[in-house]
Amino acid sequence: MSVLGPLSRRDFLRAGSGAAVGGYLAARTIDLAAEAQIAAPASGDVVRFGIIGVGTEGSALLRTAVALPGVKCVAASDLYDGRHTLAKQIAGQDVRTTRRYHEVLDDKSIQCVFVATPDFWHKQVVVDALAAGKDVYCEKPMSHSLVEGADMVEAVRNSGGKFVQVGSQRVSSALFAKAKELVSSGAIGDLMQVELQLGRNSPDGAWEYPPPLDLSPENLDWITWQKDVPKKPFNPYIFARWRCWHQYGTGMAGDLMVHLVSGMQFATGINASPDWATTIGGIFRWKDGRNMPDVQDTLLQYGRTPVSVRLTLTTETPETTRILGSKGVVEVANNSVTWIPQLGIDTSSSYYSQSFPAAMRAEYDREWHEKNDPILARHPLADVTVYRGPSWDDLRPHVANFFNAVRTRKPVVEDAVFGQHAAAACHMANASYFEGKTVRS
Ligand SMILES: NC(=O)c1ccc[n+]([C@@H]2O[C@H](COP(=O)([O-])OP(=O)(O)OC[C@H]3O[C@@H](n4cnc5c(N)ncnc54)[C@H](O)[C@@H]3O)[C@@H](O)[C@H]2O)c1
Repeated sequence: MSVLGPLSRRDFLRAGSGAAVGGYLAARTIDLAAEAQIAAPASGDVVRFGIIGVGTEGSALLRTAVALPGVKCVAASDLYDGRHTLAKQIAGQDVRTTRRYHEVLDDKSIQCVFVATPDFWHKQVVVDALAAGKDVYCEKPMSHSLVEGADMVEAVRNSGGKFVQVGSQRVSSALFAKAKELVSSGAIGDLMQVELQLGRNSPDGAWEYPPPLDLSPENLDWITWQKDVPKKPFNPYIFARWRCWHQYGTGMAGDLMVHLVSGMQFATGINASPDWATTIGGIFRWKDGRNMPDVQDTLLQYGRTPVSVRLTLTTETPETTRILGSKGVVEVANNSVTWIPQLGIDTSSSYYSQSFPAAMRAEYDREWHEKNDPILARHPLADVTVYRGPSWDDLRPHVANFFNAVRTRKPVVEDAVFGQHAAAACHMANASYFEGKTVRS
């Protein structure tokens, strides 16, 4: 039976409210409720937090966090002094700022921290934060390598009840909640395969970011920024465009695919590393000295489920998650979820019968209708439903979920194990690309 009840194509045409969706007829469009208002905690307790890394994403997290009720930013750390100014502009002049993140962790009044450094710093800062007794919101991809991810999961286990929430915000969106509900309620039957896609086509989309205008070794601790990567002379382009090099970032896999894989894990209930990954691609357009590919096609296998991922920085295509099952498709794209149910049975006599001589074809058709018309009469027609909702990129619900967990100790939606699995898919895809072979977990 239809999960949403029978709304026939006739009803739809009478209502006149549909639109063509991907070649299908849209039976109806449903607006998902806006995110619930995030209320101040009943106790009136204020969660005091710090932030480490106040760059592009850190500043967005900080803006989002300080707009929530019942929280206060106490301290911010960044290796570039310009971002101390930015932190104060966002969170108030009383925010303490420092280049040394340990000074944030040493503050006993701080309960939790956001970690929004480049990927190659995540593990060290997160492990130190857990050891200092803080709950952590760590940006995606959780780790810079499989080994680092395993160390981070271990650090959570040994932290005496502290937790890590990983920052792929899609899993807190109403849209992915709807996709998950549809898949788990059997709306598409048995899960068969998943397609994930994202394409960009601009210098900014390809991470050719403008370095801060005043950046210099005087206002940036460039030596510390490079961590244990072989040291290079001061280079503002590496500072701003670190995603382009595997020494610092994780390329399209860790920057983009990790969101898609996290959404896929959430919607399908798969919470595992892939059994194997195989990737092809190359640097086809952005020949600016980067070593990460700008075209990357990956096949992942989870148990028996194949997941294909198409990433490109050379052609713009919408971010799409397409979950295919024996009874239809759930597609998340363009800030909507489209449910395309399929009966999975013949709805007309066989195409092959046109190869029969006329009398045989007439006999076949008569028998076919005698047998199948009663079955078809019992099944509603497969109409399409489109759910529209707030952007899946909205940080607010995900950050609110984090603070809520800090207060209540209820589990977060995206813990370190989940984050390690999503990151593992990306690390395996990159390893396959660089090694030129299938990589197994
Ligand atoms: N969830 C999302 O949608 C999303 C979006 C963008 C970026 N991100 C992630 O956020 C992280 C940061 O990305 P970004 O684009 O903001 O990078 P960024 O380069 O703009 O900012 C990183 C900041 O971290 C600071 N930093 C580096 N090492 C530090 C250290 N040891 N101590 C203190 N500060 C340090 C740098 O000085 C810089 O200001 C990355 O892991 C990225 O993948 C997530």
